[in-house]
Amino acid sequence: SWTTTNVVEEQLALIREKVGGSRAICGLSGGVDSAVAAALVQKAIGSQLTCVYVDHGLMRKGETEQVEKDFVAATGVQLKVVDAAERFLTALAGVSDPEQKRKIIGREFIRVFEQAQAEIVAAAPDDQPVEFLVQGTLYPDVVESGGGTGTANIKSHHNVGGLPEDLQFQLVEPLRQLFKDEVRMVGQELGLPEEIVQRQPFPGPGLGIRIVGEVTRERLDLLREADAIAREELTAAGLDREIWQCPVVLLAEVRSVGVQGDGRTYGHPVVLRPVSSEDAMTADWSRLPYDVLAKISTRITNEVKDVNRVVLDITSKPPGTIEWE
Ligand code: XMP
Repeated sequence: SWTTTNVVEEQLALIREKVGGSRAICGLSGGVDSAVAAALVQKAIGSQLTCVYVDHGLMRKGETEQVEKDFVAATGVQLKVVDAAERFLTALAGVSDPEQKRKIIGREFIRVFEQAQAEIVAAAPDDQPVEFLVQGTLYPDVVESGGGTGTANIKSHHNVGGLPEDLQFQLVEPLRQLFKDEVRMVGQELGLPEEIVQRQPFPGPGLGIRIVGEVTRERLDLLREADAIAREELTAAGLDREIWQCPVVLLAEVRSVGVQGDGRTYGHPVVLRPVSSEDAMTADWSRLPYDVLAKISTRITNEVKDVNRVVLDITSKPPGTIEWE
């Protein structure tokens, strides 16, 4: 029967059998899925695992520091941080098609992991190779990327449909049959702290798929500020557990006329996309209190240069997906 204890025991055995005496690396994104996958694999193979956190420059404010601090404190895992912002931004230059962005980001992740693999082997005292890549892929990621049933193909999740053909790793995906709420239960069972287990989902491709249009450093800076304000106000209003997540999206290629102080503005809109959901397969737009929305809107338009309009996405999934890309 399905209990978290059974799932954990079964996965520990499977992971040990698969990895044997080899080494594994695990990409950490700061999200629940990769954190739980890493904790599970660490429990199974200990120091044969190295976690790799790729700072792709598409992270939200404070995220990198949080992974470095919280996750390592909670698990004692070996962590390698790679600053790859330049590399990702260069690869994304001139690209505005959503699927192309996702594929590029997926590919660059793997390239960074390959480089990390070589460095870990070079630094190791023995000559065990790194043959395995651990990913926190969930059941819905597989289905929506078209990898599960072969029917649906909604978008290429960075860790499924975005993988390059010449992948040098064998994959370890201990959460591949689980839904998010089950993953949270497994995380709890493994003793991960609430701040990690209850974190709202954030996509691996990060802010790169929340800028409609080309991803540039300036646009990322704008969106990072707007996102931080929305998160701050939602947390202050005590709404974090009520909503599934609230993407903030920058419509970088749309401008509208506004007025601020004593002058005309011609800036970009940002979209608030608060949703409620059980498993991200379907979702409804969250009926947030008007005063919270008002506060977010006022702060974003006052504090974020070049953003002069805040709009609310009131589409359920289906027909909309949660993310805009
Ligand atoms: P969509 O936009 O497909 O999103 O309705 C469903 C859930 O998945 C998250 N998401 C991703 N997570 N890699 C991830 O790790 C991805 O490539 C990816 N794309 C979407 C999204 O934030 C939502 O929670």
